[in-house]
This record gives sequence, structure tokens and C-alpha cells, in this order.
Amino acid sequence: MNIVVVGCQWGDEGKGRVIDLLARKVDAVVRYQGGSNAGHTVIVGGEKFVFHLIPSGILHSGKKAIIAGGVVIDPGQLLKEMEDLQKRGISMDNLYISASSHVVMPYHKDLERWEESLRGKGRIGTTGRGIGPAYADKAARRGIRMGDLLEKETFKEKLSFNLKIYTNLLGINYSEKELLEKFLEYGKKLRKYITDTSLLIYELMKKGKDLLFEGAQGTLLDIDHGTYPYVTSSNSTAAGVCSGCGIGPRSITKVIGVAKAYTTRVGEGPFPTELKNEIGNLLQERGNEYGATTGRPRRCGWFDGVALRYATRINGLDELILTKLDILDPLDKVKICVAYKFKGKLIQDFPNRFIIWRDCEPVYEEMDGWREDTSKVTSYKDLPVAARNYVKKIEQIGKVPIRLLSVGPQREEIFATP
Ligand code: IMP
Repeated sequence: MNIVVVGCQWGDEGKGRVIDLLARKVDAVVRYQGGSNAGHTVIVGGEKFVFHLIPSGILHSGKKAIIAGGVVIDPGQLLKEMEDLQKRGISMDNLYISASSHVVMPYHKDLERWEESLRGKGRIGTTGRGIGPAYADKAARRGIRMGDLLEKETFKEKLSFNLKIYTNLLGINYSEKELLEKFLEYGKKLRKYITDTSLLIYELMKKGKDLLFEGAQGTLLDIDHGTYPYVTSSNSTAAGVCSGCGIGPRSITKVIGVAKAYTTRVGEGPFPTELKNEIGNLLQERGNEYGATTGRPRRCGWFDGVALRYATRINGLDELILTKLDILDPLDKVKICVAYKFKGKLIQDFPNRFIIWRDCEPVYEEMDGWREDTSKVTSYKDLPVAARNYVKKIEQIGKVPIRLLSVGPQREEIFATP
């Protein structure tokens, strides 16, 4: 089985814990896009782990953790993450890094900061990790790859060329010597992990091994299919697996979506079901909705069924895992957005124009809340009827079967639906 896990909203759906759960059944876990903008939180035995670059599957000894070529890597951040995990007794013996993944350089972060300040009110609200400029350099064919850090001459030449561009662009005088030394040192430290991950994945598949592809961010942050320009710079949808890993689409056997029982968004950009009221605040507080990477408060709102239907279509979802249902416990009424209204017209399919995302009004179906503590529930049949109705409605609107539900952050607080 080669399973893809993708976020169905604007990221932060709880993919980390889902991946941690599914990782038990596979031989390798692969990150295929994004970079240290991601923050996957896993809680094991009360201990919290936050992953930015390393696949959370590393927590399972003996499983391969692969960072494929579609990822952009900040080597300093990666080494820090490796050291932190090692200090907590997690071995890095099974870590593999693609030689073709691109390197995030300090000038990428400087460019991003400058660009965001130029945008002013129209800023994207990025994580500030240099992700956009690193992918821009990749597309412009001047990017530095992890493999380049292993060859002094190649790296020097590429760095020199890039510094000519960035010095002019930003008016900052970078020390070529310092950057050269620092990044060659990173290369030295990471050398033993850097390899051809496309080939590795292919060989694992040929041997019949099971792989899990760990999506970062979410469908609505996808560079092509998200709420552009308020998106990240990679393909965070299932399609990103093939280009990000260098595998054919036929090798994917299952696509699992993850959605939170309500909606959140961190950063700027349109959010039709956003609640700027006490219910939004309640979701934020109860859901501890603060970014795992930046600590920024996440904007909160009702569940968006139009967006889920879109995620089902764009990713070809086979099934869905719904997380954080318990956060809605105290509410008298719960709402699900079933369509949008724009200029008097009803819209059933997720639009692809900024003005509609920004100005549409959500059309809601209101349902009774359950007003019961579900956080201790361990099976679907023990959920209050109103909670089951809510879950069924999401399935129906989203056109995707819900297979698992979570009611708490611990590994065991997740159960199957019938
Ligand atoms: P960037 O990926 O740092 O360029 O940020 C672009 C947009 O994606 C911003 O709105 C970020 O807040 C959002 N974003 C990036 N990574 C994540 C994530 O892991 N979870 C949620 N939002 C994210």
C-alpha cells in the first residue's frame, strides 16, 4: 500500500497525529513538498514533538524517514531538529534526504521579509521561513540543491551567481566566504543522509514495502489549486507526491484526507466561514489554535463543506479523517457551510477567483449541538446522536466517507466510524 495523507483545509488539520498513527503500519514515511513552514505536532505519552522538516514517522524505530526532492530544506533548521530529536533518544539512522531537494538560503528569508513589507496590507502572512523565494529560485533554475553542498566548486559557482542577484536586489552585502563555509559545513554534517530518494522509494516499492506520503499544509494552500496568491509555494495536494518524489501516479494506492471538525487559517487571505465573534474565540481557545511554527493565533470558523467537496475532487480522496470533534462540545448550535452566495447566485463548487472567495457569503445548514463531553468517548456508537449527525452531514456534503474520528491529541484518542 502506498498511502498519501493530505490536508483538506488551510493546513493544521491534525495531519501529524494521523501520520503518526498510520506510520505504525508502513515501512517508510516520506515528506514530498514544503519545508520548515510546516509544523506537525505529535503527542506521545504526554510528550510533545513538533516536526518541521523530518517526517514524524521517525518516532517509530526501524521505519525509514525520507525527505524527498520536492521539499525545500533549511539545513541549519534540519540539523537543529535532528539534534533535538537525538537528545530525546530518537535515532537518525533511518533518515534519508534527497540530493535534489533545494536549499533555503538566508537571502531567501531576507527577500521574503522585504516583499512582505512592500505588500503592506496585502501581505501573504507567510511563516517567514524563506519558502516562496526558495521555490522561486528553483523555478528560475538558479536554486542550490542539497547535493550541491557536497561539491565545493559547484556550490561556490552557484552561490556566487545567486549573490550577484540578491546583492543587487536587496542591497545587502552578503559575505560569500562566510556563506560558503557555513553551508559546506552543513553539507559535511548531512553527507551521510543525502542520497537519491526517488530511486530509494522506487526500490522500496519494488520490494512490496508500504509507504506513507506525508502532506504538509493543505489543499487550499496549494500553489495551483489553493486561494492564490494566499497560498504556499508548493503543491500541497496529492498530485505533489508524484513530482515531489519522482514516482508515477499509478503507484499511489490510497489518498486519505484530514480535516478538522471546524475551519482554521493562519496568515492572511480569504476565509468565507471565518467567525470574528465569541464562537471564533471559543474555537481558538478550546482548540489551542496557535501556529506550531510561528505561534500566531489561527483564525477560526465553521466547517466549510464546499471546501471539503473541492478537496475530495482535487485530491481524489478515498476517505477522510475528521479531527478535533470534541472542540465543538459546548456549542448549542453548530453550522456547516453547504454553498456560497455571490451576487445573489448560489455557488456549489469551490470557486477559482479571488473576488468570489473574498466577497461570497456562506450558506449554512444549522444543526443541534451535543453539549456533552466527547473527549473521553472511545467508540463511534458512544458519541451523542447530535455529534453523529454532524459527522454524517460532513460526509454527505463533502462526498467522502469518514473512516476515523479524533476527540483528543493523544495517540489513543482516535476511533473508527462504522
Ligand atoms: P509560506 O508557506 O511560509 O510561504 O506561507 C504561505 C501561507 O501558507 C501563509 O498563509 C502561511 O500561514 C501558510 N502556511 C504555511 N505553512 C503552513 C502550515 O504548516 N500550516 C498552516 N498554514 C501554513
